[in-house]
Amino acid sequence: WIFKTNCRDFAVGNFNASADAEVLHKAMKGLGTDEDTILQLLTARSNAQRQQIKATYKTLFGKDLVSDLKGELGGKFETLIVALMTPPITYDVTSLRNAIKGAGTDEKVLVEILASRTPQQVKDIIAAYRQEYDDDLEEDVSGDTSGHFKRLLVILLQANRQRGIQEGDIENDAQALFKAGEHKFGTDEQSFVTILGNRSAEHLRKVFDAYMKLSGYEMEESIQRETSGSLRDLLLAVVKCARSVPGYFAETLYYSMKGAGTDDNTLIRVMASRSEVDMLDIRAEFRKKFACSLYSMIKGDTGGDFRKTLLLLCGGDDA
Ligand SMILES: *[C@@H]1O[C@H](CO)[C@@H](O)[C@H](O)[C@H]1NC(C)=O
Ligand SMILES: *[C@@H]1O[C@H](CO)[C@@H](O)[C@H](O)[C@H]1NC(C)=O
Repeated sequence: WIFKTNCRDFAVGNFNASADAEVLHKAMKGLGTDEDTILQLLTARSNAQRQQIKATYKTLFGKDLVSDLKGELGGKFETLIVALMTPPITYDVTSLRNAIKGAGTDEKVLVEILASRTPQQVKDIIAAYRQEYDDDLEEDVSGDTSGHFKRLLVILLQANRQRGIQEGDIENDAQALFKAGEHKFGTDEQSFVTILGNRSAEHLRKVFDAYMKLSGYEMEESIQRETSGSLRDLLLAVVKCARSVPGYFAETLYYSMKGAGTDDNTLIRVMASRSEVDMLDIRAEFRKKFACSLYSMIKGDTGGDFRKTLLLLCGGDDA
């Protein structure tokens, strides 16, 4: 059978982990490295298949495939390949840990992961974080953040949003948001945090419509005007994810490449973590929102083996 993902098909019938491990070993043997073989092979496999290849490589050659890859590759190409070799939950856990424990706090990573993952994924992340580091993710996040930004992150970590649409609350929620922001001198951030952190995506989409009718503003416009800093980034991410998670990632990718310089870490994180989840939808949203396709933007903003790998993960152009 074919393991069908949103982006690419992986022919499971032809998959042979031993054969793949041998190809990779050969590509890294001796002087020089056959980068092209490595990137073509790894992007043609699912993350689950890469884990099998890794295990088989260990059995056949007595060595860790990821360590060998790290020894042969370098720079952002290496970072991307290592990301592809990491199981999804472990990848999120590692990204969060580095965001918290590095010098300063990488708020962008906290915002992106905690605003976009499903409740079950958040629960898995918390469990894996505890297992890996023997630490409590909520405590670590709380210790590194403050104010309403911290409060909303903690609510998101509860992964306990209401389900479905509460018809009776739509108008009240829209009113509360209006009173907390546009209709007030200063802003009552707590109302934004409570409503955006606790309600379901379906419910929030209704609230955004009611809010537009009531205030004449899109929710995003009001958040832009009424809040600032990391809290604003987080509120915007939550609103965008409630509207459409692929839409949120299309924008994230666009802004990672727009302008001078590329935010390689964001580009790598999103391409690696979404390639088997919703890449086709992200490409469609990207094409709708922006003047070019995701493929052409990657092509114009990156280079070398890094670019080749990203283009293969993207999977195709959208004219
Ligand atoms: C898988 O590949 C190995 C090494 O190339 C080969 O010896 C083996 O026969 C293959 N297995 C299958 C089921 O094709
Ligand atoms: C929603 O968010 C607030 C924090 O602002 C929290 O105190 C409350 O318990 C949460 N849950 C519900 C169902 O409102």
